[in-house]
Amino acid sequence: MTRYTALMQELEAAPRTWLVTGVAGFIGSNLLETLLLHGQKVVGLDNFATGYQRNLDMVREIVGADLWRNFRFKEGDIRNLEHCREVCEGVDHVLHQAALGSVPRSIEDPILANESNISGFVNMMVAARDAKVKTFVYAASSSTYGDEPTLPKVEDKIGKPLSPYAVTKYVNELYADVFATCYGMKAIGLRYFNVFGKRQDPFGAYAAVIPQWFASLLRGETVFINGDGETSRDFCYIDNCVQANLLAATATDEAALNTVYNVAFGERTDLNQLFDLIREEVSRHKPEAATAKPEHREFRFGDVRHSLADISRAHTRLGYEPAYSVRQGLRLSGDWYAANLK
Ligand SMILES: NC(=O)c1ccc[n+]([C@@H]2O[C@H](COP(=O)([O-])OP(=O)(O)OC[C@H]3O[C@@H](n4cnc5c(N)ncnc54)[C@H](O)[C@@H]3O)[C@@H](O)[C@H]2O)c1
Repeated sequence: MTRYTALMQELEAAPRTWLVTGVAGFIGSNLLETLLLHGQKVVGLDNFATGYQRNLDMVREIVGADLWRNFRFKEGDIRNLEHCREVCEGVDHVLHQAALGSVPRSIEDPILANESNISGFVNMMVAARDAKVKTFVYAASSSTYGDEPTLPKVEDKIGKPLSPYAVTKYVNELYADVFATCYGMKAIGLRYFNVFGKRQDPFGAYAAVIPQWFASLLRGETVFINGDGETSRDFCYIDNCVQANLLAATATDEAALNTVYNVAFGERTDLNQLFDLIREEVSRHKPEAATAKPEHREFRFGDVRHSLADISRAHTRLGYEPAYSVRQGLRLSGDWYAANLK
C-alpha cells in the first residue's frame, strides 16, 4: 500500500478541516473534489479573478448533495486580511492556491501580480499563523528555477527569476522560511511543473498549452506551436498534484516540513510530441482531427527551453508516487474536454 492510499483511509476514518484558497480555479477545484469525496470538511475562498462558479457546480454534481454539505464557500480576496482570517478559523490544514498565474500576465501587470501573489500570500500566512493551523501548504512554481540551466531541476539549485511572476513565487518561499523561523509555522512549498487536467481553462490570452490545444483541435481550429517544437516540459497530471498536496499537508516528520518540493511526473515531453499525443486523443472523439497539422510561429519571449524535475525529494520525504503518466493524464483530459467543451 502506498503512503497516499494509507493516508486517504486514515483521513476517512478521522476527517479534518481544510482550507483551499483559489478553490474555484483549476487546481483548487480538483483539491476540493478529492477532499470532499474522502469525507473531509472544506472551507473555500475565491474572488473569481480567474476561477469560475461552474467549477464549483461541477464538483457539487460529482460529490452529491450529502458530501457537498461539508463545504463552506466564501467569496473573498486574499488581499483582504479580514477575509483571510475569517476562512482560517478552525482549520487544520491550508492548501493555498490563490494567485494570479501566468508569466505573460505578470509581465503585463507586475503591480497586480505583486499584490495578489505577495501581499495576498503574507495575509494568508499571518491569518494561518494566528489561527494556529497545523500546516500551510502553498503553490510554488518551477519558474523559480529561472535561468538555472541544469537538468533535471533539483530543489536547492535555482537561478535568477525571469519574470515578475517568478519573483512573486520565489518571495513566497522566502516568506514561508521566515515564518517558520520567526513564528514556528510549518510551511511546505510545492513547485508545480505544468500541471494539466480537467477544469483547466482553455480560453483567454493566458491559457496553458494543453487545454488550449484540446480546445483548438476539438473546434477544428489551428494549433500554434511557439518555435521549433523542441521546447520541452515536465507535464504533470492534476491527480499527481493533488496527491502531493495531501501528503505534504499531513506530513509530521520534521525533515519533511519547512522545505520545498518539485511536483512533476519526472519525464520530459517536447511540444511536437505533445501535439501528436493530443491529436491522437482528440481523434478518438473527432476522427477528422487525425490529419490536423500544427503551425509553427515565433518563440515566445521569456520561455525557458527545457524543464524537467528531479522528484526524488518528494518521493523520499513525502512518499509521493505520481500515479498518472503524461499519456494517461492526456487520455483522461481528452475525454473530459470532449464531453465538456461547448
Ligand atoms: N497550473 C499550473 O501548471 C501551475 C504551475 C505552477 C504554479 N501554479 C500555481 O498554482 C496555483 C493554482 O493555479 P491554477 O492553475 O489552478 O490557476 P487558476 O487561475 O485556475 O486558479 C487560481 C484561483 O485563484 C483565484 N484567485 C486569484 N487571485 C485571488 C485573490 N486575490 N483572492 C482570492 N482568490 C484569488 C482565482 O479566481 C482562481 O480561482 C496558483 O498559485 C499558480 O500560480 C500553477
